Amino acid sequence: MTGEIITLQIGQCGNQVGKQFWSQLTREHGIERDGQSRPFDSPQAVREDDTNIFFRQDDFNRYTPRAFLFDLEPSAIGDVQNSFPGLFNERNIWVSKDELGAGNTWSKGYDYGLENQDEFINMIDREIDGTEHFEGFQLIHSVAGGTGSGLGSNFLEALSDRYHKKLTTTYSVFPSNESEVVIQPYNTILTLRRLIENSDASVVFDNNALLNLASKVFKDSNASYAQTNQLIASVLSSTTNSLRFPGYMFNSLPSIFSTLIPTADLHFLVPSFTPFTTDFIPDAKEFKRSTAYDVILDLFDKNNSMVLRRSDSPIYLGIFDALQGTVDQNDVMKAMAKAQQRVKSPSWSSSSLHVNIGRKSPYNKSPNSDNVSGMMLGNTTSVTSLLQTACNSFDVLFKKGAFLHMYQNGKMFQNGWDEFLESREVVQSVIDEYISAEQDSFLDDILLEDENIVGSGDAMDADGDNII
Ligand code: GTP
Repeated sequence: MTGEIITLQIGQCGNQVGKQFWSQLTREHGIERDGQSRPFDSPQAVREDDTNIFFRQDDFNRYTPRAFLFDLEPSAIGDVQNSFPGLFNERNIWVSKDELGAGNTWSKGYDYGLENQDEFINMIDREIDGTEHFEGFQLIHSVAGGTGSGLGSNFLEALSDRYHKKLTTTYSVFPSNESEVVIQPYNTILTLRRLIENSDASVVFDNNALLNLASKVFKDSNASYAQTNQLIASVLSSTTNSLRFPGYMFNSLPSIFSTLIPTADLHFLVPSFTPFTTDFIPDAKEFKRSTAYDVILDLFDKNNSMVLRRSDSPIYLGIFDALQGTVDQNDVMKAMAKAQQRVKSPSWSSSSLHVNIGRKSPYNKSPNSDNVSGMMLGNTTSVTSLLQTACNSFDVLFKKGAFLHMYQNGKMFQNGWDEFLESREVVQSVIDEYISAEQDSFLDDILLEDENIVGSGDAMDADGDNII
C-alpha cells in the first residue's frame, strides 16, 4: 500500500494542469467541487477507493487535497479557486506579494524560492504532519516559463535536500518548437539539470505533441492549452489509478517506477494514451471502440504519444501500461506476445512490458464505461530527441551570449555563467547514457551499482504480474 502523496503545482502551467488533475480526481472519488462527499447512488455500495493518498478528510466528510498552489502572479491560482470554491486549504496557497510573475526568467523564479525557503519548508512540514505514511511529492510545472522552471527548480533542490528519502515525481511540460519567448531554452536547460539530479522520475510532455493530439481528440484545429491539460490530467490520474483503486499489483509508486527505471539518471518517462473515453474527457468527440489488444498495440503508435517522436522504431528500456474498462485477459496476453515481437528492447531489459488492469471509479457513470482505454509510460531512448532539441536551442543562444543579461541579477549567476555550462553538461551526460543504454552490454557497467536501482521492486516479483 502506498502512503500519502503531496502535490505541488507551480506557475501558470502547473496550476492550470493541476486544475484539470483535481477535476478528474474529484470526479473519480465522488467529491463535489467544494470538497463535500457525494453519496453513492446505491446505499448498499461500499467504498473501495483510497482517498487518503491525495485528500485529507475531516469529521464532516469534507475532503481537502494534499496540495500546494504556488505562483508569482495571481491569475492562474484565482482561476483554480473559482473553479473549486473552498476545496483547497487556503494556508497552502502562496502568491508573491508583488504579483509580478517571473518575466519568463528562471533566475527570478529561483531567487523567490531562495528568499522564501523557510516559509515554504514550514508550510510543507505542516502538511506532512497531517500524514501517517508520507510517500512523496509530485510536482507539476512547465520547464520553460520563469516560475514553473525557476521556482520549481528551487523546490526540487530543497525537497531532495530535506526529504531525500521520499520519492519526488515531476510532470514536466516542455515548450513547443514555436516557443513564444526567446529565452525559454535557457530556462529549460537549467531546469533539466534539477529534473536529472533532484527528481526520481519525470513524466515529460511536449506542447507540440499535446496540441496535435488535442486537435484530434477534440476535433478542433485550434486546440487550446485548457484542452491539452485534460490530456495531461488523464496521464496523472491513470498513473495513480492502481494506488487510488488498489488491487494486488502496482499499489505504490516505487512498484511502478522500479519496473521502468533502470538507473537513477534514466528516469524520463514518455506518456501515451488511447482512446480518450468520456471517463477522461467528458466532452470527447466520438472515439473508436477498442479491445485491450488494440489499445496495447496502439499505445506504441507515435500519434498517441505526448512527446513528438522522430524515430519509427524507438528502443524501450521499460514500459508500464495502465488499462481500464472491460478487459479480456486473453487479449492482453495476445497483445503482449505481439508487442514482444514488434518492440525493440536491449537484451538486458528482457522483461520490459508490464500491464496493470485497473479498476474504474464507481462514480464515473458514463454511458460507455465498459470501453477499454489505456495509458502507457515508456522509458524510451527516443526521449533523447526532446533533450537534444533543448540542447541545440540552448547552444544557439548561448554561443552568441544572447539575452544573458536577463539572468545577471540572479544569485546563481553572481560569479559568471558556469551554471549554464554545467547544466548543459549534465543534460549531455544523460543523452549519452540513454544512447549507451541501447547497447546489450550496458548492464555490465551499470546495473550492478546498487545505488542505481530505484524503488523496492516489490511488484516485479509478485505473482500474476503481466510481464514479458
Ligand atoms: P512566468 O510567467 O515567467 O511567471 O512563469 P510561469 O511558470 O508561470 O510560466 P508558464 O507556466 O506560463 O510557462 C510558459 C510555458 O508553459 C510555455 O512554453 C507555454 O507554452 C507553457 N504553458 C503555459 N500554460 C500552459 C498550459 O496551461 N498548458 C500547457 N500544456 N502549456 C502551458
